[in-house]
This record gives sequence, C-alpha cells and structure tokens, in this order.
Amino acid sequence: MILDTTLRDGEGSPGFHLDANSKVRIARQLEKLGVDVIEAGFPISSRGDFEACRRIAREIRGTGVTALARAVREDIDAVWAAIKEAETPQIHIVLSVSDVHIKRKLGMTRQQVLKQGAEMVAYARTLCERVEYSPEDAGRADPEYLLETVETMIAAGATVINIPDTTGYCLPGEFGELVHRLIADARGADRVLFSVHCHDDLGLATANALAALTAGARRVECTVNGIGERAGNTSLEEIVMLLRVRQSRLDLECRVEPTEIIRTSRLVAELTGTPVQPNKAVVGANAFAHAAGIHQDGILKDRLNYEIMKPEDVGLADSRIVLTARSGRHAFHHRLSRLGVVLTEAQTQAAWKVFKEVADNKREVTDEDLRRIVTAPEAGGGGFADQTNDHNHVADTLRHLIFG
Ligand code: KIV
Ligand code: ZN
Repeated sequence: MILDTTLRDGEGSPGFHLDANSKVRIARQLEKLGVDVIEAGFPISSRGDFEACRRIAREIRGTGVTALARAVREDIDAVWAAIKEAETPQIHIVLSVSDVHIKRKLGMTRQQVLKQGAEMVAYARTLCERVEYSPEDAGRADPEYLLETVETMIAAGATVINIPDTTGYCLPGEFGELVHRLIADARGADRVLFSVHCHDDLGLATANALAALTAGARRVECTVNGIGERAGNTSLEEIVMLLRVRQSRLDLECRVEPTEIIRTSRLVAELTGTPVQPNKAVVGANAFAHAAGIHQDGILKDRLNYEIMKPEDVGLADSRIVLTARSGRHAFHHRLSRLGVVLTEAQTQAAWKVFKEVADNKREVTDEDLRRIVTAPEAGGGGFADQTNDHNHVADTLRHLIFG
C-alpha cells in the first residue's frame, strides 16, 4: 500500500506551501493515481490547513484520508473534526521514541512517553476505527524500547504501526533488520499493518523503504517528487516503478496507476512552484533523455539497450534524443530524417561539421537550430550544396544566427 504524504510532510517543508484549493486539486489527482491513503495535512497547525483537510475528506472517495496529530487530545480532536466525513478516515498520531528526542525535545521519561502514547491511541480509537501510531525517530531509537513501544501501542488499539526513519540515518540493511524484528517479535504484530516512513538525508529514503518492504512491511509513506522535510521523503514514483520494473524479483504489487505519474509530478511542481531537478529518477526532465552518442546509437537500435522502463509507462509520450556536442552521427541523421531533411552525401558531411561547431557552443542543438543549419542563407538558402568547402565560414554565420 501507498500512503501519500505530499500534502503533509511535503507541503510542510520550506518553499512548498499550498493553499486549500491547490491541496484539493492535488488530492483529486492522487485519487486518480490510485494511492491507498492521502495524508491531507496537520489540522491543528492552522485554520487554512484544517479547512483543506476537511474539504479533501468530504470530496475524495475510494482513497483513505488521514491527517497528523501529536499525542495530545486537542490535536486528535482537530484531526477527527477535519477528516471524519472521509469514506475511510484514519487518525495518525506521532510521538517520539528515541532517547535523543525523549530527553532533548520532550523532556520526559520513557515510561511517561509510553503512557501518553497508549492513552492517546486508546482515545483516538474511541473516535475512529483506524489509528496509525508513528514512534518518531525510530531509526535512532533503542530497539528494545522501540519493541516495547510497538507492543504497547498495538495493545492500546493502534491498527497501523508506522516506523519512521525521521532523520534519514539508517542504512538499508539495518532498517530492514529493524522492521523484520518488529514484525517477527512484537506481540500482536499479526493484528496490525506495518508501514514505513523514510527521509532522504543521506539519499537512502527509497532504499530504506524497499529494505523494509522486503522485510515484511506492507505500506510505504512517500511523496510525489520526493518532496518533504529537509532532503525529502521516499519518492512515490521511485517506489512505484521499482515495484513494477523489478516485480519478478520482489513479488510485490501496488495499485497505483503508473501512467498518471508524470501528470501528478507536474501538477505538484506547478502548484508548489518548485521544479523537479532534471536528473530526478522517473520524473526528471532527463529521466528518459539520451545525450551521449554511444547511448543514442544504442537507443536508436533498440530502446532496451538503455531504458529499463518505457516512457509511456509513466505517462510520457516518448523518450528524448538530445542533440549535443557528445552526440554521434546516428542521432544526427535520425533527427534530420525525422525533420524530413534530405541531403546529398557532401551536404550531410558539411552539415555534420557545422552541427559540431554549433554544438560546442550550445547546451542543446534544437530542431530549430538544425533547420537553420541546413537552410542557412550562407548555404545558398537551400542547404550546403555550394558551401562544402567553406565550413568555417558557414559555422561563423550560423553561430551568429543561432546565438545572435
Ligand atoms: O518524519 C517523521 O517521523 C514523520 C512522522 C510524523 C511520521 O513525518
Ligand atoms: Zn517525515
């Protein structure tokens, strides 16, 4: 299962603020995408966020809706008031479990934390059938105390135990072992759903979530484009495509519709005003772009040479062959023929040389540049027929035409 927390962990991070209308638009798209649960926000934090959660809970059908509460009645009441009209509501409670947090953030003892957590889980269960408990900073906690916490919250009525690597500290093997141990040893583990929530401080959020899945967790909390506190969260598109591309090895599936991934990614980027980094896995502008000549040659011969997933699978029309100074003749000829340009052998030689001149001075040679290259006035207005002996002159003129 996939819990999407783009609207809570993602939206809460600097520079990603969304108003209620934008949150509702994204929630509708997440519903189309087919996530199992949408975490709509943190209702106690502001009136606006409370309203956004309430509108999402009223409108979204076929997808669970949850919102976050600290382990205090006021927060839990706010969550319940905001999401109780959802088709499948769930209250999400967070309370720290690591000694660092217990001592330095909460100023409590382990026993006090256990008591407060259990009381609040029991209270939330009087309101809602589904209660998720997140022992915050589980990744840095004492494993024995974490086990005791998990058992206590299950006994108090939690239906989902979410193990967060809040600070992105764990290594995949370590995190997988931790989750495996909790699932194997915690009393009552068979009565709850084990979920994980990983942060990307060391770039391991997806690897850690995957390790947890292979260890038996059955829900991943993630965000579109991997946005979230600090370096972000496990990114939804990475987990979904991992499960799909490596299905035969992992033997796990989720119900997300991958062809909605790009649309969702673009909507989140547009509404948050934050573009996706070009080399981002799955959804970055370069994720299906090929620039090096060796790769372009391979792709043009057979996509399987360099693509492990099809662009259509994630909702893109096609992959891109980007013409740069590193491109080879195969890509150059291929693009010319797609543009319907027919040249003689001598003209092609001339055009190739000019292309390289231009490419050395430009990040990408566009179709428009290519058209100029083959129809430059310097080339007689109709190609390179008369200019084959004067490449440098043509290149100079084109540099002027293209760069101004
Ligand atoms: O990172 C974290 O620990 C969280 C919890 C609320 C799950 O976001
Ligand atoms: Zn988080």
